[in-house]
Amino acid sequence: MLQFRGQLRPLQSSRCASSKPLRCISSYIPRSLPFPASVSAFPSAFPFFSLPVRQFPLYHRSHSPKYLSTSTTMTEYKLKGISSLSTLGSLEKIEVDVEGVEEGRVLLVKLDDKVHALSPRCTHYGAPMKNGVVTGDGRITCPWHGACFNVSTGDVEDAPAPNALNKYEVFERDGAVYINAKEEDIKFGQRNPVVKCSVSKSDEKVVVVGGGSGTLGVLQALRELKYPGQITMISKEPDLIIDRTKLSKALISDPSKIQWRPREWYESAAIETLTDEVTAVDFKGRTVSTKSGKNISYTKLVLATGGIPRTLPLPGFKGELSNIFTLRTIQDVQSILSAASNKKNIVVIGSSFIGMEVGNALSKDHNVTIVGMESAPMERVMGAKVGRIFQSNLSKNGITFKLSASVSHASPPSTSSSEVGTVHLKDGTALPADLVILGVGVRPATDYLTNNTSITLEKDGSIATDEHFSVRGLDSVFAIGDIATYPYHGPGGDGSGVRIEHWNVAQNAGRAAARAIVHAQRGVSIKAKRFIPVFWSALGAQLRYCGYAGSFDDVVLREQGEGKFVAFYTSGETVVAVATMGVDPVMSQSAELMRVGKMLGKKEIIAGGDVLSVRV
Ligand SMILES: Cc1cc2nc3c(=O)[nH]c(=O)nc-3n(C[C@H](O)[C@H](O)[C@H](O)COP(=O)(O)OP(=O)(O)OC[C@H]3O[C@@H](n4cnc5c(N)ncnc54)[C@H](O)[C@@H]3O)c2cc1C
Ligand code: FES
Repeated sequence: MLQFRGQLRPLQSSRCASSKPLRCISSYIPRSLPFPASVSAFPSAFPFFSLPVRQFPLYHRSHSPKYLSTSTTMTEYKLKGISSLSTLGSLEKIEVDVEGVEEGRVLLVKLDDKVHALSPRCTHYGAPMKNGVVTGDGRITCPWHGACFNVSTGDVEDAPAPNALNKYEVFERDGAVYINAKEEDIKFGQRNPVVKCSVSKSDEKVVVVGGGSGTLGVLQALRELKYPGQITMISKEPDLIIDRTKLSKALISDPSKIQWRPREWYESAAIETLTDEVTAVDFKGRTVSTKSGKNISYTKLVLATGGIPRTLPLPGFKGELSNIFTLRTIQDVQSILSAASNKKNIVVIGSSFIGMEVGNALSKDHNVTIVGMESAPMERVMGAKVGRIFQSNLSKNGITFKLSASVSHASPPSTSSSEVGTVHLKDGTALPADLVILGVGVRPATDYLTNNTSITLEKDGSIATDEHFSVRGLDSVFAIGDIATYPYHGPGGDGSGVRIEHWNVAQNAGRAAARAIVHAQRGVSIKAKRFIPVFWSALGAQLRYCGYAGSFDDVVLREQGEGKFVAFYTSGETVVAVATMGVDPVMSQSAELMRVGKMLGKKEIIAGGDVLSVRV
């Protein structure tokens, strides 16, 4: 199965590495935004799923011209409908309107005895943070995909949040509550990371190979943490870092729509970007060689080369026939859309997350058949009952499933010898196929290291690391994301290596590697900050998943009608993973409980225990 297979795993409890002592609220002044007004520092990549306009007032652009006329000076704003901060209970959060600012809102969160005022929407896709999870150690986690912020500062704690939340001074006066803020900050609703840098140590250089999620994490965190050396990103993708997760859900073919940061962002952060393919690494000489003939030296190297989609070693799938695709890049989407434009029958091979997402995205205008080997989609990873929920959701969109099926070969139609025309199953079924999309898994993209005598790759081609994502046996080299096998300490984990193909895991690993690099550069040793893996998918409804269920022995499924459910994946008494649809914030709450080691056990779950009632 494409994305989610092999060895997935998450982690366990830790205090936020950046859990700072609570600052006096009156001393906090939001940092100003570092980009010029004309620069789009944020993707127009927002939700492909429909959301009320009000939910996304400001997230698409940094300082869009619309807000240039708004006030940039600190002003007192009264909050509507609240007369005292003492009405909030511990860890309680409420969203309130800001008087005098059109659509202006703020989130009030009580932590210990202090109330903090923050931007109310997650900076990833704009989820309402009032529905998130506040923890006693000072974090607020988004209800949707696991982004986490520090309550006291608004700073990003965990991916996939690209920007911090704004934090405002809040106070009571004469029976009313006020914030001290700039109108533009209230409207923009988030704070770009301060990455502006001029290199002060030119004898140090981090080279990052890859241009995906892991790279985004490492680049941003290096500059946020004030790494003073040079940074070079080498990616063979022609575009700057995009939101890859959208490719299969919305088939977006225009990179500018899902680019996380504009070119100006890299320039302002003094990050050199090269489009090239790394073909070899000389770990002793500390240089990487590229296809175009460059030799680039480094003092620290971060490998973040992701995955290569697998193909099928069967007749018809070995390059003999055209219109057979895999999906990893914008260019793959472009090829699929162009081939699908005047075709009707699409066969997706592999009932993986990506297979099902792309089938779903194409089902509006095409006859889509999904072929899977298991008796239910994602059965091995999610269990048959949950797999059948996905199947039922997608069947409503007209998708046909051929399950417990094995592909035999593909053949051309009578009108062409070079294009695919039929996919043949081993039971003799012939499926008309104008187009085939393979969703049969990925392998780590480490071919450039295969014959390198300085490194021993794992059996699956991945790279073993320690908790800081530092490559075992090599000095000053890190591996992150889909190519990394790292020690897992979450529920059910004993420190054995796992490889997890999730967007958040790659980005959090990048942030961890950046912390290790910066602290090593300062001669400070640090404890690894752990995170719980979070994954999401769009399968007729939004699936959320946390934890790692590499070896679950049971699934406790609570169906709540209308396609809503919570599935607890257990290994013995331990709940090792949780999947949900339609019951936010159960996944986020479970992830936080797992992080701090307070997740309910199987017996408690079977007895009806409610994770939302446990204080984190
Ligand atoms: C279509 C799709 C949908 C997905 N949806 C979700 C989702 O909804 N939720 C979720 O959690 N995860 C999802 N994933 C998984 C997630 O995107 C990956 O786990 C994540 O992108 C891994 O990040 P990475 O940095 O390791 O690799 P990538 O993001 O794949 O980046 C690897 C980069 O390295 C470059 N590269 C490779 N080899 C070389 C080389 N030799 N030289 C130079 N550059 C090189 C590549 O061009 C690419 O830019 C999805 C993946 C895909 C493909
Ligand atoms: S919207 Fe908050 S993590 Fe995605």
